[in-house]
Amino acid sequence: MRIGVLTGGGDCPGLNAVIRAVVRKGVTVYGHEFVGFRDGWRGPLEGDTMPLDVQSVRGILPRGGTILGSSRTNPIKIEGGVERIKENLAAQGVDALVAIGGEDTLGVAKQLFDRGVNVVGVPKTIDNDLNATDYTFGFDTAVNIAMEAIDRLHTTAESHHRALICEVMGRHAGWIALHAGMAAGANVILIPEKPFDIDKVCEYVESRFKTRYAPIIVVAEGAHPVDGQMELQAGELDAFGHVRLGGIGDRLAQEIEKRTGKEARTTVLGHIQRGGTPTAYDRVLATRFGLAAIDAVHEGDFGKMVGLQGTEIVRNGLDAATAELKTVPVHRYAEAEVFFG
Ligand code: F6P
Repeated sequence: MRIGVLTGGGDCPGLNAVIRAVVRKGVTVYGHEFVGFRDGWRGPLEGDTMPLDVQSVRGILPRGGTILGSSRTNPIKIEGGVERIKENLAAQGVDALVAIGGEDTLGVAKQLFDRGVNVVGVPKTIDNDLNATDYTFGFDTAVNIAMEAIDRLHTTAESHHRALICEVMGRHAGWIALHAGMAAGANVILIPEKPFDIDKVCEYVESRFKTRYAPIIVVAEGAHPVDGQMELQAGELDAFGHVRLGGIGDRLAQEIEKRTGKEARTTVLGHIQRGGTPTAYDRVLATRFGLAAIDAVHEGDFGKMVGLQGTEIVRNGLDAATAELKTVPVHRYAEAEVFFG
């Protein structure tokens, strides 16, 4: 078989580990051939390819980013996009695709599968918000980066008696904030799933100062106050209709300063959470996903996404993976709340 590989959406530590595993097992165990499509769905849409063989995946296991490049191109929104992809796959002699991505990339994969394209999905996102898998690779790396940053903020916050706010990624789901905040002992964690009460946040801040221990507030970029408490800025939309977020950390700092009279400053971690080398956990998970994905392709089990269930790698329909986002459940947030204030 000749198999195309692409990586779409926001990049994520571990993408290269997946590509390596797919190609290594695909070539050495099954004898398949590969072609890389550049920049997510833009590659098959425009017929933009690069060679992908065992030699080209040597040494990429620990490298962040993706050797294939990525984009948020949405071919479904482009007139004739699906037909162009099918024509370009045929022109390249591609029998099947491995699409590595999050809800958007895999949503496109599902629609292409419904229109006759042989595709297997691999779940990727630092946000850990995909269903049909317990964890996505990249999440552990992002959490560890955020945890280390929060640990560092602690020592400087103590020295200056300031409230320090750490804004982390997480547009619809607060997994990074929850795990990094728990791991680093945050004073309060604010997530998109639960609108926050700014009065309560200020109470936590005051109580932490009373104990002579400076507060650290971890806030997911998609967190928002209960209706009407604070005005937030609206951002631009991307090709999948997602708003570009950022700014909640600064707004919180302004409000906390105004209400408590204490100095409050914000650090926005942004893309630092997505860059650099993956943790051992993410390298292993990404590698196992890659091995399982090429097995599925080899068996002709298309329309599936590989995922982690407990300690085992499983396959589920792409629809199960993309129908609904996996958000933080109430009981998981309640565990963290024990430590607030
Ligand atoms: O989906 C991963 C993610 O990092 C989100 O946490 C974040 O909201 C978004 O991507 C940012 O995307 P971009 O890098 O395109 O601005």
